[in-house]
Amino acid sequence: MTSATPPRPARPTALVTGATAGLGAGFARSLARRGHDLVIVARDAERLDSTAAALRAEHGVGVEVLAADLSVRADLDRVAQRVGSVEAPVDVLVNNAGFGLKQRFFDGDPADHERMFDVLCRAVMVLSRAAAGAMVPRGRGRVLNVGSVAGLVPGGGHYSAAKAYVIVLTETLAGELRGTGVTATVVEPGYVRTEFHARSGMRSGGSSSLSNRIWLDIDEVVDAALDDTFAGRVVSVPTRRWKAVSTLLDVAPRRLVSTVWNAMPSGARRRHPTQR
Ligand SMILES: NC(=O)c1ccc[n+]([C@@H]2O[C@H](COP(=O)([O-])OP(=O)(O)OC[C@H]3O[C@@H](n4cnc5c(N)ncnc54)[C@H](OP(=O)(O)O)[C@@H]3O)[C@@H](O)[C@H]2O)c1
Repeated sequence: MTSATPPRPARPTALVTGATAGLGAGFARSLARRGHDLVIVARDAERLDSTAAALRAEHGVGVEVLAADLSVRADLDRVAQRVGSVEAPVDVLVNNAGFGLKQRFFDGDPADHERMFDVLCRAVMVLSRAAAGAMVPRGRGRVLNVGSVAGLVPGGGHYSAAKAYVIVLTETLAGELRGTGVTATVVEPGYVRTEFHARSGMRSGGSSSLSNRIWLDIDEVVDAALDDTFAGRVVSVPTRRWKAVSTLLDVAPRRLVSTVWNAMPSGARRRHPTQR
C-alpha cells in the first residue's frame, strides 16, 4: 500500500501592529515561537527590516514587512487590505501600536489628540472589522486588542478614554463572534517596561522592590495575553497583582474611583502611565 505524504500544513500567519518595540516586539517573538509566520507593521522602515531579519534568523519563520503610519488613512487602508486578504489569510491580528501623551485633554496641539484617537481607536476599529470580516467565513481566527488598566480609570486623560473604547469595542465584538469559531480578546496590562514612557516624555519605574512589584516585564504580559487569546478568553489581565487592581476598579462605583483619582495630588496622579 502506498501512502502519499500529506501536504505540510501551511503555518498560520499573525499580523502585529507596532511590532518593532516593546510589547509588539514581544508579541512577534512569542507568536514566532508558537509557529506563526508574521506580518509586522510600524512606521520606521529601517527598524522594521532589522526586526524582521532578527525574527527570521532566530525563529526560522517567514516575516513580511508593512511600513505604515496608522494615523494616516491611506496607510491604514493598506494594512486593512492585508488583514482581509483571502489569498494570504491572516489568522491572528494583534492591534498593539500605541503611544501616550504627557498632557491633559484640553492642553497641547489638537493634532496630537487626533493622532492618538486615530491610532488607538480608529485603527483598532478598522482592523478588527477587516479581520472579523475575513475570519468569520473561514470559521476560525483570533483578534487580540491591546487595552490597558488605564481604560478602567475615569480621569486618566484622553489615553484612558481611548483604552476604554478598545475594551468595550472588543467585548462587543467578542459577543457578536460567539459561535463563529473566531474570538476577540482585550489585554489590559498595568505598567510595562517598554519605550512607551520615554517616547511620551514620562518617567518609567525605578529598581526598588515596590517598583519591581508594580512594573511588568514584556514577556509576562505577552505570554499571558496570548495564552488567554488562544483559550478564547475575552478579557486578559496579566499577573495576579494587576488582576486584583482591575477587579477593584471593576467593582468600585465609578464615581468613587473618579473622586479618589481627582483628589490625589497631581504628582501622584502623574505617576499614572497616562498622565506623567
Ligand atoms: N508600556 C505600558 O506601560 C503599557 C501599559 C498598558 C498598555 N500599553 C499599550 O501597549 C501598546 C504597545 O505599547 P508599548 O508600551 O509597547 O510602546 P512602545 O515600546 O513605545 O512601542 C510602540 C510601537 O508602536 C509603533 N507605533 C507607534 N505609533 C505608530 C503609528 N502611528 N503607526 C504605526 N505604528 C506605530 C512603534 O513603531 P514606530 O515608532 O516605528 O511607528 C512601536 O513599534 C500600546 O497600545 C500601549 O498603549 C502599554
